[in-house]
Amino acid sequence: MSLKYPEKILLAIESSCDDTSAAILKGNKILSNFIANQAIHEEYGGVVPELASREHQKNIVPVVAQALKMANLEKGDLDAIAFTQGPGLMGSLMVGGSFAKSLALGLNLPLYAVHHMHAHILAHFIDDAGEKQPEFPFMCLTVSGGHTQIVLVKSAVDMQIVGQTIDDAAGEAFDKTAKIMGLPYPGGPLIDRYSKEGDPQAFAFSKARLEGFDFSFSGFKTSVLRVLEKEMKVNPQFIEENKYDLCASIQWTIVSTLLDTLERAAKEHGIQQIAIAGGVSANSALREGLETLAQKHGWTAFIPKFEYCTDNAAMIAMAGMFQLMHGREVALDTPNKARLAF
Ligand code: KG4
Ligand code: ZN
Repeated sequence: MSLKYPEKILLAIESSCDDTSAAILKGNKILSNFIANQAIHEEYGGVVPELASREHQKNIVPVVAQALKMANLEKGDLDAIAFTQGPGLMGSLMVGGSFAKSLALGLNLPLYAVHHMHAHILAHFIDDAGEKQPEFPFMCLTVSGGHTQIVLVKSAVDMQIVGQTIDDAAGEAFDKTAKIMGLPYPGGPLIDRYSKEGDPQAFAFSKARLEGFDFSFSGFKTSVLRVLEKEMKVNPQFIEENKYDLCASIQWTIVSTLLDTLERAAKEHGIQQIAIAGGVSANSALREGLETLAQKHGWTAFIPKFEYCTDNAAMIAMAGMFQLMHGREVALDTPNKARLAF
């Protein structure tokens, strides 16, 4: 049974971290989804919050203008505005949030506040997100640079975290081990690329298995550091000579930890639809692994289109549309929150 969406046109703004993005959605169809990335953080090996806010300030007006232009629309065609309320970097969130509120005020339009992590999950409902769309309830592994959660998605507005990381997020595990190897930030996509040439069983790194469905990646990160320190003492060329095998082994450890836990969570809750969301779901081994897991059990796997995995405003627009459908308009003084309860 497919959901019915109102034929309203909604503009959404995402600015929680280092991407400034605006998207326009009609029903559940994306009319435009424009993203300005911030290359400035690369040289620092991670996102510098103050620099991110300054870039958002420069980008926000042209990004929104571009989203309207690509959708072939004027401001007057809009029916609603949505923005990322949190979680994220406060200075970054405030740029998008304040702009969205001003626009809603100026155009006299209803305003909707979106939880960034809910939006990653709800991206699955964008009409071209995948070949098929999940039905409630489904189990979603949400993996990004800041979060790693297994979420039981009962409805668009009722989600329960059944497991999460107690230290580093999966994206951090990728990025921090990449940094140890001397790879540029963000290292996740590079590890993915180099893994294709390597042997995932070449090195054994430590894997934490916690009670329930929680994750821990700090021991894994330390084990990568220890192996590299030891080997580099003997052979200073060790990383360069073993780059592909190291990446493949790092990727295998992270991905198999994620999928083993998702498998146990879905079994325990009797769920037969499994999904991935968030920036790390762009990872090719995770995408293949999810399909294989679903085939093994006769479950259905949902993998969002690449462009809806990493941060984007299309997913905020989709989540905003669900807020609209549930009559959840917010007041103009709704604050952004760096830590927003799930
Ligand atoms: O969801 P996202 O765009 O931003 C956050 O909200 O954090 O996720 C960014 C994270 C980064 O850690 C990045 O390294 C990781 O997603 N990432 C990947 C891949 N593409 C992005 N990690 C592994 N393999 C990839 N292909
Ligand atoms: Zn994100």
